[in-house]
Amino acid sequence: MPYHAYHLNLVQEMLEGAQLALIPGDPERCSAIAALFGDYRELAFHREFRSILAESGKEKALVVSSGIGGPSLAVAMEELARLGIRCFLRVGTCGAIAPDLNPADLVISEGAVRLDGTSQHFAPLPYPACADTELTHLIVRACRELGFPYRKGITCSSATFYPGQERYDTFTGYVIRDFQGSLEEWKKLGVLNYEMETATLFTVARTFGLRAGALCAVLVNRLASEEPDHISLREAENRVNRTAVYTAGLALRELAL
Ligand code: URA
Repeated sequence: MPYHAYHLNLVQEMLEGAQLALIPGDPERCSAIAALFGDYRELAFHREFRSILAESGKEKALVVSSGIGGPSLAVAMEELARLGIRCFLRVGTCGAIAPDLNPADLVISEGAVRLDGTSQHFAPLPYPACADTELTHLIVRACRELGFPYRKGITCSSATFYPGQERYDTFTGYVIRDFQGSLEEWKKLGVLNYEMETATLFTVARTFGLRAGALCAVLVNRLASEEPDHISLREAENRVNRTAVYTAGLALRELAL
């Protein structure tokens, strides 16, 4: 019996040998990413997981949405690895906490603070969440060649959007003591941004012996604002999508995928 990935609703032959997956959180973003390859075809859309096969000439990649956060991303990675995916590239968005990052700038994660929770189901907390070095070099090259402003460094991946990222614009307005002052502390430790998936991505990929890289566009700088503006939001998505697809092309040619 061929393996059927239950949550993704895919079987291996549908991937036509694709070994690289681009992974946004939002299913709505999959077709915009896939369209940048040229040809594309939706394979499945089950729960938060929308899967599109994208092609440019002989090059193929899968674009799969992970939903929000580590738990659903880990489900997708588990199933994608069994379907033959060997390289994962996150195409995400984030809130910056480094003072020099502006909306629509790009952040390349070299490593991630493991506040995601999910990664502890794959490796104990002292295990580092780090990116694949070769893939990360290709993301840097893509940013440079496309001329988009970027920084690379450490990302904080939180299990929650609100308390874990020390947001007070909430129902109770309360953040538990563990997280009070945490934004300032991560900033002092040189952490660049908050998001919710990269620590899971890196930990799961490493423990599987597979490659992973993460690229996020800044939606807001938390030191300045909590509300993204619509023009920066569009530009952030445009830049992160184009850079990810450019990186995918480099990876397909240079990492023998
Ligand atoms: N995603 C997050 O997790 N945090 C932000 O601030 C923006 C996007």
